[in-house]
Amino acid sequence: MEKINAVITGVGGYVPDYVLTNDELSRMVDTNDEWIMSRIGVKERRILNEEGLGTSYMARKAAKQLMQRTGSNPNDVDLVIVATSTADYHFPSTASILCDKLGLKNAFAFDLQAACSGFLYALETGAEFVRSGRYKKVILVGADKMSSMVDYTDRSTCPIFGDGAAAFMLEPTTEEVGVMDAFLRTDGKGLPFLHMKAGGSVCPPSYFTVDNHMHYIYQEGRTVFKYAVSNMSDACVTIAERNHLDKNSIDWIVPHQANLRIIDAVAHRLEVPHEKVLINIERYGNTSAGTLPLCIWDFEDKLKKGDNIIFTAFGAGFTWGAVYVKWGYDGKKQQ
Ligand code: UT7
Repeated sequence: MEKINAVITGVGGYVPDYVLTNDELSRMVDTNDEWIMSRIGVKERRILNEEGLGTSYMARKAAKQLMQRTGSNPNDVDLVIVATSTADYHFPSTASILCDKLGLKNAFAFDLQAACSGFLYALETGAEFVRSGRYKKVILVGADKMSSMVDYTDRSTCPIFGDGAAAFMLEPTTEEVGVMDAFLRTDGKGLPFLHMKAGGSVCPPSYFTVDNHMHYIYQEGRTVFKYAVSNMSDACVTIAERNHLDKNSIDWIVPHQANLRIIDAVAHRLEVPHEKVLINIERYGNTSAGTLPLCIWDFEDKLKKGDNIIFTAFGAGFTWGAVYVKWGYDGKKQQ
């Protein structure tokens, strides 16, 4: 039997209309455009500010565009994986809500929680389902409404994050394209440095937790920065070496968009020129599980069949890794 590969056959995306600029943030906390641009690299981010709308709203918009662009019939979708840290509800899963909104009748669906590495983990997880031969159309979504857990009185975190969602379709192929290799790691050592203190089973919500701002992102930025640079760089080097890729044969690096200085450090370590690194942090900030597919959504027209792409991410946990993808089609798919 011929080997089955899992190829990405299309991308869809969605970002909310509301643009939160550095100038507006400067009126909310003691910060300024110069600091944010030089230390993080974010100019503006999108915010889903309509009441009653959560992550599934953006995920649904992204997945609808994906289904339209790939000409997919809802009855043919076998599996939906939603990578998110900002689920609509503790339960049921955001993926289950998506099944209803997209009218999927023959799919099973689940959420995947790996913080900012969620979409990277979803890529390999979804690809394994396709490689098994039993699943023919798998939708992967990376979506986060980070504004729902950002403390807009904390200047050390509020400039970083934004809201957004994007989705890939994975399908089987016998061609040598698709998700070729993955190096994924979790160590659990990151808990003290990046977490939300309350709202989970260890510390359920109470008046105390609300009064003490315990439902927001807590981050010790400098420590996270250090681990992000070394772990993403090491993961990229590992995946490049074991697939005999070098700075000439790598066509694109798609890094998690957490901080432009982290992205530059990873590219420098790989000796890959700036033109080969896909970057949109300036416009969207860190959308957590959304960053990797949103990058492809933005730069899809640059990609060609056979391009060697390394996706890399780092997030709370810590979680991190790199995935090697051989791209499956030329240019932008639009219907
Ligand atoms: O996606 C999940 C993984 N997360 C990441 O990868 C994030 C990793 N960390 C980072 O990106 C950076 O550490 C931050 C952007 C969070 C912070 O940048 P930094 O260069 O590490 O700044 P710092 O925390 O060391 O703070 C430097 C100074 C401090 O002032 P003092 O103590 O030197 O007087 C901060 O109080 O900058 C100050 N500062 C600010 N100043 C103006 C912190 N936030 C701001 C701000 N505006 N928004």
